Amino acid sequence: METEGVKYAGSKLRLLPYIEQIVRDRGFTSVLDGFSGTTRVSQAFAQMGFAVTSNDVAHWSEAFALCYLKSAKPDSFYAPLIDELNALEGVEGWFAANYGGEGADGCKKPFQRRNAMKIDAVRERIDSFRLDKTDTSVLLSSLMLAMDAVDSTLGHYVSYLKHWSRRSYKPLTLRLPRRFATDSARHTVLRGDVFDAIRGRSFDLAYFDPPYGSNNEKMPPSRVRYGAYYHIWKSVVLNDKPEVFGKAARRVDSRDVECGSVFEDFRRGEDGRFVAISAIDELLGKTDAPFILLSYSSGGRATREELLDSIASHGRLLQAVSIDYRSHVMSSMSWTGDWKRDASGHQEYLFLVEKDI
Ligand SMILES: C[S@@+](CC[C@H](N)C(=O)[O-])C[C@H]1O[C@@H](n2cnc3c(N)ncnc32)[C@H](O)[C@@H]1O
Repeated sequence: METEGVKYAGSKLRLLPYIEQIVRDRGFTSVLDGFSGTTRVSQAFAQMGFAVTSNDVAHWSEAFALCYLKSAKPDSFYAPLIDELNALEGVEGWFAANYGGEGADGCKKPFQRRNAMKIDAVRERIDSFRLDKTDTSVLLSSLMLAMDAVDSTLGHYVSYLKHWSRRSYKPLTLRLPRRFATDSARHTVLRGDVFDAIRGRSFDLAYFDPPYGSNNEKMPPSRVRYGAYYHIWKSVVLNDKPEVFGKAARRVDSRDVECGSVFEDFRRGEDGRFVAISAIDELLGKTDAPFILLSYSSGGRATREELLDSIASHGRLLQAVSIDYRSHVMSSMSWTGDWKRDASGHQEYLFLVEKDI
């Protein structure tokens, strides 16, 4: 199944075939993707014929979801606009000032100057079209995918490479997002906290891919903070040219204190439990869906016992699989099974849970 998305820590691109294998032919109609990120899983669910509710706290995730799930106009509507954007000359603007070329300290930014100037020109022109939010989202998705194809990063925006990546020399070029035929009226796009997304709604299946935190006690700051890692996409979508700080020129509202999520919390709560694990437990309990599919990774905060305890207190584990990315092998895990937490082999887990009614 084809999907599109920017490079993203925790993207489930490579897990899609396994997710599809687990959820297909179970008679689901309505499906929630509660932490949709790149929206690749939402895109796959929609192509499988489900009525999808896609939710994430990130503005840019909403833009991608609107593009792939809700935009209903033909490519012929967007193609001339994209041609016009591609024909623009670059200009000096907020993106070029903060993310283009080399800084005074000689440090490389995430885009070559020429491409950063093009980003400025394109982003301003998109607003000048005065399209509705969904059509604007198609063009913003096209811009973000074009930026992702010429970045000079390791896949995040908290520090940049010493030497220009090869792809950064290519000219920024927008193309039509690869949308697929789907009944957009059946889908819902939400932007917000997952607990708001589940309130008052029920689904046949809820898929949860929360931030994992990190189980590395020595280096808690190494944990992925999504708002900080991907601040640039928020700036592209909002075009609000905020104040920035630090070497990576992050938006001030991407500081940890401003953008933290309970799911990214690495501390223990007053009850001695990790905050992130209590949040997952609460989510499993409050979700009104007979089936929940939970993604987790071997680098995550929860231990096997904690996660399995939480699952057992809310329902029955129907299927548990671990996927080794390097060997591309999916194996079944048993209750007492092989929870590989060693740093050598990164494992992804999928737990299909049937909830107690
Ligand atoms: C592991 S990523 C999801 C990746 C996604 N499945 C994909 O394939 O791209 C976790 C996501 O959770 C989002 N997030 C963090 N806290 C959240 C919350 N409280 N409610 C909803 N989304 C949240 C982050 O913005 C991030 O996109």
